[in-house]
Amino acid sequence: MTIKAAILGFGTVGEGVYQILQTKRDHLTKLAGAPIELCGILVDNLSKERELPHSVFVTDQYEQILAQKPDVIFEAIVGEEPCFSYLTKAVDRHIHVVTANKVMFAKYGTRLLEQAAQKVGIGYEATTASGTPILGTITRLLQANSITKIEAILNGTSNYILSSIQNEGKGFQEALEEAQKRGFAEADPTNDIKGYDAFYKLMILSQLIYQSQPSWESVPCEGIDHITADQFNDAQQQGNKIRHIASIEEVNGELHASVKPQVLSPSHGLHSIDGVDNAIHLFGDLVGPLTLRGPGAGQLATASAMVEDFLYIWQSYPAKQLLY
Ligand code: HSE
Repeated sequence: MTIKAAILGFGTVGEGVYQILQTKRDHLTKLAGAPIELCGILVDNLSKERELPHSVFVTDQYEQILAQKPDVIFEAIVGEEPCFSYLTKAVDRHIHVVTANKVMFAKYGTRLLEQAAQKVGIGYEATTASGTPILGTITRLLQANSITKIEAILNGTSNYILSSIQNEGKGFQEALEEAQKRGFAEADPTNDIKGYDAFYKLMILSQLIYQSQPSWESVPCEGIDHITADQFNDAQQQGNKIRHIASIEEVNGELHASVKPQVLSPSHGLHSIDGVDNAIHLFGDLVGPLTLRGPGAGQLATASAMVEDFLYIWQSYPAKQLLY
């Protein structure tokens, strides 16, 4: 028996999944109980040069991927559509789905999970904070806790840029270009620097923790692209740092959220989060305050979350319904 896997999208993250399936082949075979065979990769431009053996099936037709009858689809495309339609079709055909697509999942995640119900697993750890296991920790290890408040750094590119400016004196554009070269930023970095990427991740967390989201229009969302040199200088002179913070809190049954740059003093738990790291600072009524920190972007870190999600689904399904 083999496990048939397809990858949708062969950008930074899709290629990362491919690499892990190759380099960890023996280890994954042991963990999954059978070898994982790549049955196809969906791309949008067939003529682009790719370092792939000729034996790998590459297509720009999704129906041809489905025709391979994959057991699992790793989805690493950008944007809501056609992605949501693709994954809906996969779930209909009882194919497990692992996604890194935060834009799509913030909007359609609940529908996808409802549709999957008892049939298949949906893994989405990679949508939020890349390889840092935030969703799995909340779902599997903080179930008995009520989480009243979250403050988080959820965009690796923004944190990388802010750190480069404040720690190394680099310019905004220079730092952004570095983040792009290192595979942290999206192909179009608008969502990174304008706060939307962190917003989508916050909405995914909100849905997971509170089973609802505030109305999107009610959430102030600011990016890091309008912070002035004076604001950076003022913060530095007082020993503070500017960080891009996504926060959500439940007050009297209502959710209050915001996504914006904030000046943090050294005593704040997120002051020291540098580079591409993400961190989530939460308060659980049993565990108390807790901070989870780790890589917030990057090829292998994000693909790591996807492969781990697959293993969890494969090992626990259908014996146990996925908890998230
Ligand atoms: N562009 C995203 C970031 C990638 O910088 O956080 C991970 O979602």
